[in-house]
Amino acid sequence: MNKALSIFIGVLISTSAFAQGDSNMGIIPAPVAITRANGNFILDKTTVLVNQSIDGAKIADLLNAFIVTKAGFALRETKVTQANQKAIILTSVGADKLPAEGYTIKVTSTQIILTGKGAGLFYAVQSAMQMMPDKVADKITIPAVDIKDYPRFNYRGTMLDVCRHFFPIPFIKKYIDQLAYYKINTFHWHLTDDQGWRLEIKKYPKLTTVGSTRNGSIIGNYPGSGNYLTEVKGFYTQEEAKEIVKYAADRYITVIPEIELPGHASAAIAAYPELSCFPARDTFVSDKTPWAGTKKGKQVQQTWGVFDDIFVPSDNTFIFLENILDEVVAIFPSKYIHIGGDEAPKTYWKESPFCQALMKEKGLKDEHELQSYFIQRIEKHLNEKGRSIIGWDEILEGGLAPNATVMSWRGEEGGIAAAQQNHDVIMTPGSMGLYIDQRQSMSPDEPVTIGGLAPYQKIYAYDPIPKVLTADQRKYVKGVQANLWTEYVKTPEKGENQAFPRLLALAEIAWSPVERKNLKNFTEERLPNHLARLDKMNVNLWVPTPIGQSDKPLTGGDFTIDLKVPISGGKIYYSLDGSRPSENAFLYSAPIKVIVPQGEKRVMKTIVIAPSGRRSVTTETILNNGAPDTKPEAKK
Ligand code: ACM
Repeated sequence: MNKALSIFIGVLISTSAFAQGDSNMGIIPAPVAITRANGNFILDKTTVLVNQSIDGAKIADLLNAFIVTKAGFALRETKVTQANQKAIILTSVGADKLPAEGYTIKVTSTQIILTGKGAGLFYAVQSAMQMMPDKVADKITIPAVDIKDYPRFNYRGTMLDVCRHFFPIPFIKKYIDQLAYYKINTFHWHLTDDQGWRLEIKKYPKLTTVGSTRNGSIIGNYPGSGNYLTEVKGFYTQEEAKEIVKYAADRYITVIPEIELPGHASAAIAAYPELSCFPARDTFVSDKTPWAGTKKGKQVQQTWGVFDDIFVPSDNTFIFLENILDEVVAIFPSKYIHIGGDEAPKTYWKESPFCQALMKEKGLKDEHELQSYFIQRIEKHLNEKGRSIIGWDEILEGGLAPNATVMSWRGEEGGIAAAQQNHDVIMTPGSMGLYIDQRQSMSPDEPVTIGGLAPYQKIYAYDPIPKVLTADQRKYVKGVQANLWTEYVKTPEKGENQAFPRLLALAEIAWSPVERKNLKNFTEERLPNHLARLDKMNVNLWVPTPIGQSDKPLTGGDFTIDLKVPISGGKIYYSLDGSRPSENAFLYSAPIKVIVPQGEKRVMKTIVIAPSGRRSVTTETILNNGAPDTKPEAKK
C-alpha cells in the first residue's frame, strides 16, 4: 500500500436495515396504503389456510407452495376456522368494493385476511409472500398491518423482442413468473421483424421454414467488426404460443402479440417476395456491414437497422395479413393486437408505380397517408373480430386509425399528441429509461449494448403522465411499458441481466401512486432482499454497484467513504492501489477514511459480489486533492 495513504476503519457500522424495519413491509411495488398495528402474527405448524373466496383455490395452493419453501412445512387447508385458531384466510367478501385488481391484507395476532377476487386476490398473495421474512426456529413472524392496495395504471407492460434473437419457452415462462411477482400484467411479445419470423402460421408455412432462420449476425456494435456464421433460428408453434398464453393467464398476465407491418417485414418478404413492391430486387445490405455484396434475392436480414423493403399495400398483401391475423386472434385472446407501424421508410412506396397509382385512386396526398390507409384497413379487420390495435407512435403520421392505442416510444410527444386526440396511450419513451436494452452504468465492464444509459433509477424517476396534459387528457394514459430489444442480447442470461433490477423499478412506477415513490426506500430498504431472492432463483440479475458510491470525482483531502451493500448477503470489495478489485481486495465492512495528500489523487475501485458469486461491474471514484492532471481521467 502506498505509504502516503492512510486508511482508517471508522467506528460507524454500516446500517443494513432491510424488510423488517421497512415502512413498505418489503413489498415491491409499494402499496397504496400501509398502516402498522401492534403485535405480530406468528406462522407455525398450527396455522391453517382457509380459502373462502370464489376463485381462490389455485391461489391458496400457490401460497401454500411458497410457505413450504419458506417454512419447510405446508399449512393444513380447511374451509372454516375455530375460535382462536391461527389462520390465513382468503376471502372475496367486500372485494366488489375494491378498485380493479385491488386487494386488502389485514394481519392481526390470530389471522391474516387476504381480500380480493381474481387478479386482486392473486396480488394479495404476491404481497403476502413478499412480507414474509425467513423462519426462526420453524416460525415466521409477520408484523400486524393493514394494507389497502390497487394499481395506478391498468396496463403495466414489458416487451420482449424474440426476433433479433430467439428465446426458448422455458425462459419465457421463467420471465413471466417474475413479472407476476411484481404485478406486471402485460407481456408484449414482439414476434416478427426483419431478422426473424417467430410464430407458426399454418396457412403460410414458409414464414417459418424460410423466415425464422438467418445465416448469422454481426460481431459487436453495428456495423460490426466481423460476422459469425452461426445460424440464428427458432419459432414458436401455435401450440407453444397457446401454452404461453395459458401460463401467463394463470398468473393474470395478458400476452399481446406483435405482428409488424408495414415495415420491419424482411423476414416475411424473404419467405414471400410478392409482398414487396419490387419482388425481383435483392434485399439491400448496407456496404458498411460484413455482408456487403454477398446477398442475392430476398433475405432474412442479418444485421440491424431500418430497411426500405416494406409490404406493398396490394389486395394480395391485405389478404395475406388478414389471414395471418385470423390465426393470431385464434391463439391470443387479448383485447389488443399490436401491429407495429414503426420505422417504415417510404422510399419503395415513392418509387413504386403501383403505390403511386393507388394513392391517386384513393385520394391520398402522400405516403404517410398511404401508411394511415394501410393501418386503417388492418384496424377495420381486427375491429370486426372484436379486437383493437396498438401501434408505435408513427401510426400518428398521416392520421390515426379511429380506435387505435398509441405506444409512445420516440419520447413522450406521440403519447401527448394521441391523448390530445382522445386516443389511449401507453408510455414507453426510450429517452426516459424505458428502453432496457441500453446500458445500466458507465463502467467499461458493461457488456455490448445498443448504447444510451438507462440505470434503474432513471426508470424510477419517470412519471408516465405528462404534465402538459389536462386532467381530462390524462385519463387516456393507460399505462407504461419497458422494452427489451435484443439485437445485442443473444442469450436468456443476458436478457435477465438487462431486465433485472430495471423491471422492479418499472413495476413501482406502473403500480404505486406517485406520492408513494421513494427511491431511497426502494433502493436501500426493499431492493436488497428482492435481489437476493432473484440471485437465489438463478435469475442472472445485474448486481448493482455499492449504494452511496460516487461515480463522479470527489475533491478534498480527507474522505469518509460510507457505502451500503445493494444486495442482501452480498459483499463489497475495494482497492485503492489501482488494481481491479476481487475477493482478494479489501472487504468493506464499515465506513472508511481515506487521506489524500495535497497535490495527489487516489482511485477507489469497488465490486459487489452477490451470494451466488454473481458480480457487479467495477465502479471507480477518483479522490482528488488538487492533483494537476485529473481532468481527462475524471471524464471517463
Ligand atoms: C422501436 O423501438 N422501433 C419501436
